[in-house]
Amino acid sequence: MASSLKAPKKRESFSSRKVFIFAAIGSAVGLGNIWRFPYVAFDNGGGAFMIPYLVALLTAGLPFLFFDYAIGHRGRASSPLSFRRLNRKTEFIGWWHMGINAIIAIYYAAILAWSLRYMLFSFNHAWGDDPATFFMKDFLHAGETSLSFNFVPGVLIPVILVWVLLLVIMSLGVQKGIGAANVIFIPLLVVMFVVLVGYSLTLPGASDGLNALFTPQWSSLADPKVWVAAYGQIFFSLSIGFGIMITYSSYLKTKTDLTGSGAVVGFSNSGFELLAGIGVFSALGFMAQAAGTSVSEVATSGIGLAFIAFPTIISQAPAGALIGLLFFGSLLFAGFTSIISIVEVIVAGIQDKFDMARVPATLFVGVPLAVLSIVFMSTESGLYVLDILDNFVNQFGILAAGLVSIITVAYLVRGLPFLRDHLNRFGSVRTGGLWMVLLALVTPLVLGYSLISTFIGLLQEPYEGYPAQMLNIFGWGMVIMLLVIAVVVSFLPWSKTSRAALKPPAPPISRGKLLTDHVDPSRHRMKAHSESEVA
Ligand code: ALA
Repeated sequence: MASSLKAPKKRESFSSRKVFIFAAIGSAVGLGNIWRFPYVAFDNGGGAFMIPYLVALLTAGLPFLFFDYAIGHRGRASSPLSFRRLNRKTEFIGWWHMGINAIIAIYYAAILAWSLRYMLFSFNHAWGDDPATFFMKDFLHAGETSLSFNFVPGVLIPVILVWVLLLVIMSLGVQKGIGAANVIFIPLLVVMFVVLVGYSLTLPGASDGLNALFTPQWSSLADPKVWVAAYGQIFFSLSIGFGIMITYSSYLKTKTDLTGSGAVVGFSNSGFELLAGIGVFSALGFMAQAAGTSVSEVATSGIGLAFIAFPTIISQAPAGALIGLLFFGSLLFAGFTSIISIVEVIVAGIQDKFDMARVPATLFVGVPLAVLSIVFMSTESGLYVLDILDNFVNQFGILAAGLVSIITVAYLVRGLPFLRDHLNRFGSVRTGGLWMVLLALVTPLVLGYSLISTFIGLLQEPYEGYPAQMLNIFGWGMVIMLLVIAVVVSFLPWSKTSRAALKPPAPPISRGKLLTDHVDPSRHRMKAHSESEVA
């Protein structure tokens, strides 16, 4: 049996900064870019939305991305251990992140499974001339909005396939599995998507779609909801504030350009979003012209866009099967590289906590998640459960955890100056007072406003009119459960063997002071460590 003095195992890492950038872009570019951004932009001022969007990227997106990188790279560990290494009291945030990612993984896998089926349906137009009825009734067997555990085989089988492929890739490890998959899938995704956008632009009516998307509604800039939408989009889309970028940056080599990499990832993600807007609205312009209606009549977001509007376009457009292959293939690749990063947050946390090897940790995490995906997503109420989980975990999971982490680190631990120094030591883009002000003031204000207004709205009107029982279990119940579990788990002792891993590579911080400021021997160790770090 290993003793508590056993040295921590050598941590896996990405072989180069280039592989890390591919993986980080792979995580960021996902369903949020392809099916969420175009409609959010259209619905919140069209061309004028680009202003709040850019402001959100520069004032919260990139600063928070750098914050995540600093915590993960400094802590060189999973989210709970990185936070613990910052300050013992912040460990629960890491466990909260793991819970949030578990919920997202459960439903994200189902959307990938649907995309897989729909890629095949594109060849025989299985949806006939009524894609909406086909999707709801024939494909998902969705009935009343109540809980049902009757399995839907057409969803069950691809869900199992997605999980098997995911777990095989993740079992191969950080470089050989995650890194290699992203280096292959991301260039493929870019090629497929550029061809799709290029083709969509040639469709009749494409210019109407682009006009609808980009014509600025300047008055929308006065509406706070538009600004909240821009910040919400940036958080989900950049994969910030819920542990993913902490985990990925912990796999970077010590000497690396943190902020320069962050800028590349941030702008690539936004570039992809813009491209998606152009492609999706060109296709919607074609759909509107074919139906003799306006673009605003056919414009929709998320599930409606992918599984109802696009099948209609595929049936009507010349070379529709090609559009189907490219569109659903892009969803699949973009979503797959994102779900890898989502599940990795949990695998890394389990590896650190129980000192587990990669394969057992992947199975320990993946098998229960796959079972939950099967039980809740491959059954007749899957669509409704998915919709509720998605809405609540985004608002009261991702945004709430982002708010709590920044307030805790900025005001309780007073750790921002140390993180700034870490970024400046390892980054080409300098961070300073402005970075701290944006994080400590602007981000909490926007996130706080967003959370409070959404909370009040949901109290006044239950989400989408779902039955209270479903909202209480999968909405409010789920978000409270994630927080309670996170706090409880943060008090559980670490296993004997993983305790050695608690020794920080960088000293913890307590209310603005490195703990080692008071303790001579540790100060000594810290100095020795810093020297070996830069060596
Ligand atoms: N960032 C990922 C997405 O956009 C989670 O879907």
